[in-house]
Amino acid sequence: MSGTITTREFDLIREFIEQETAISLSEDKVYLVETRLGEIMRREGIGDYFALHQALNDPRQKALRGEVIDAMTTNETLWFRDTSPFDAFRDHLLPAYAAEIREGKRERIRIWSAASSTGQEAYSLAMIFSEVARTNSALKLDQLDILATDLSDSALAKARSGVYGGIAMDRGLPAEFKEKYFMPKGDMYEIRPEIRDRVVFRKFNLQDSFIMMGSFDIILTRYVLIYFQDEFKREVLRKAHGALAQGGVLFVGSSESLPEGTPGYAMVRRGRATWYQKVDAARALPGTGPVAAPLSKAASPTQAGVPAGAEVGAGTAGLEKATQDLTEIVRRLREMNEKHRSGA
Ligand SMILES: C[S@@+](CC[C@H](N)C(=O)[O-])C[C@H]1O[C@@H](n2cnc3c(N)ncnc32)[C@H](O)[C@@H]1O
Repeated sequence: MSGTITTREFDLIREFIEQETAISLSEDKVYLVETRLGEIMRREGIGDYFALHQALNDPRQKALRGEVIDAMTTNETLWFRDTSPFDAFRDHLLPAYAAEIREGKRERIRIWSAASSTGQEAYSLAMIFSEVARTNSALKLDQLDILATDLSDSALAKARSGVYGGIAMDRGLPAEFKEKYFMPKGDMYEIRPEIRDRVVFRKFNLQDSFIMMGSFDIILTRYVLIYFQDEFKREVLRKAHGALAQGGVLFVGSSESLPEGTPGYAMVRRGRATWYQKVDAARALPGTGPVAAPLSKAASPTQAGVPAGAEVGAGTAGLEKATQDLTEIVRRLREMNEKHRSGA
């Protein structure tokens, strides 16, 4: 059963995947589709890819749609992936936020891991925060809110459990962090509650509006834009711009860059780290101004080339409202996570 996919069937399946996830499958991904979907089709007794496509368009087949979407996502991740963004967080961003807390200019630090996969990215940030907070008295772990979202149900379930096997544990996690931040659980390891409690996981499709997500100091869209066409990459980056606080910071993967002509961001290099800072003259992070470009030239995001009417911050009142909204969302998500963990 299932067998080889025809060109017509491949086109139908990839259209479905792109429509549901924005993931763009090139011609050479035939083998990927066959291996990832063949097993589901065997299990479900679906004879060919045409029948699969018909089933996917049947509104009663919600579970099958979820399974297929899940199977077509690539959830590759590891602890402290690329190292340099986490070094930048520790050495540049957190000291700047701590200074702002001392000066009474901020109370919390909000981060969005926007394609969080099985959670390593979000938990790595929380561990770094905890490390810095040990020596920087301005920072308290409970000032950190991390929202971690993904499209994949199975990745989110793993992330929420906070339990990892030996192979995942060996990928990028220093021995001292394993010792300090994990508890053995059978032959697996469970992240300690003080780290897990800093992260709220939620299902979210990057195709959806970011308006309700609130306002963040840092957004990470690492190793997800690579799966999208340039036009949709630009859309995600425009929406992320709107969801960043003034002077907020975007990280993409170390081997990724923003598509040519993406407005609203200035590239910042510090040592081996690169990030993209929201171009907004009003309140750049102290000591972290961009190396290239144009904070001083850009009096407002609109002047900096961000399209008028895009999801751009709406001044202080807008930011305050967004902050309140986020606090409420995070509170509700925590409750949902608690219920999920307790099996309610
Ligand atoms: C390769 S992982 C990246 C994980 C992590 N950011 C890292 O750098 O290690 C890419 C993730 O993007 C998610 N993804 C793909 N398309 C998405 C979409 N449209 N909306 C939300 N998440 C998506 C996948 O489910 C997958 O878990």
